[in-house]
Amino acid sequence: MNQSYRKRAPLDPQSLAIELEKRQSLWKNFDLEDELSSTNDFAKDLIKKEINEGHFVLTNFQSKGRGRQDRTWIAPKNSSIFISIILKSSTTDNLGWIPLMAGVALQKTLQTEMLVELKIKWPNDLVIVKNDEYFKCAGILLEKVNDYVIAGIGINFDQTKDDLPINEAESIQQYLNSDLSKEELIALFVSEFAALWHEESNATSWPTPSLVRQYKANCITLGKEISALMPSGESIQGLAKDISVSGELVLDTLQGEVKLNSGDVHLKH
Ligand code: BTN
Repeated sequence: MNQSYRKRAPLDPQSLAIELEKRQSLWKNFDLEDELSSTNDFAKDLIKKEINEGHFVLTNFQSKGRGRQDRTWIAPKNSSIFISIILKSSTTDNLGWIPLMAGVALQKTLQTEMLVELKIKWPNDLVIVKNDEYFKCAGILLEKVNDYVIAGIGINFDQTKDDLPINEAESIQQYLNSDLSKEELIALFVSEFAALWHEESNATSWPTPSLVRQYKANCITLGKEISALMPSGESIQGLAKDISVSGELVLDTLQGEVKLNSGDVHLKH
């Protein structure tokens, strides 16, 4: 049994409640289940009942975790962080910015705790930057259900290289600047996201200039030649020049300007 596996422990609900209280998080209510098919599915069931915005779901293991583009998202028990946060959305205009906002909150939280540079790859992959190479350490899947939006966040915490699905992925624990626990990290992220969500929701229009600035300053995709694989299978090449007011990636291509609202982006060096 290797060292990192021995240290893996299930989430402790009491310790998480204390950490949330310490940070005066605006979102404090959560369900923690030892195993689930997917935290997003559990959150969908909660929505059928009356549920408060900001309620979140956690688990130590997902048997049917989902990623973007219909991929799976699974990890050995207790090695990873799986969160789904229930949000309310009254308009559809801002939907495109919710995953980007979650990315900003996660980048801000993790960067403070890490010894390496951490950036956002559009729309919301969190990548560790090492010698001009990018290693995915977290991803976000947004699902809309009636008037609710479920923001599902997966953070690679202490998987070994063999546990990770691709070579270009990493876990964060080895890069932390302190002995941060999963509970502390969750509380830091949830309180950061809650504060940002409330700021944006109370603004006359969103995304606010401050959110756009924070996103663009940390988005590794902007200014790069990219190729994007669309859900249809089509591939698009171009220079990523901007993020639109709806959260799309604006590309300069040989055929003119193209706006992407989904797709897998590959950065060319
Ligand atoms: C991606 O493909 O990058 C998004 C991954 C999102 C995974 C998280 S883990 C918690 C939540 N539950 C799921 O089934 N998926 C999301």
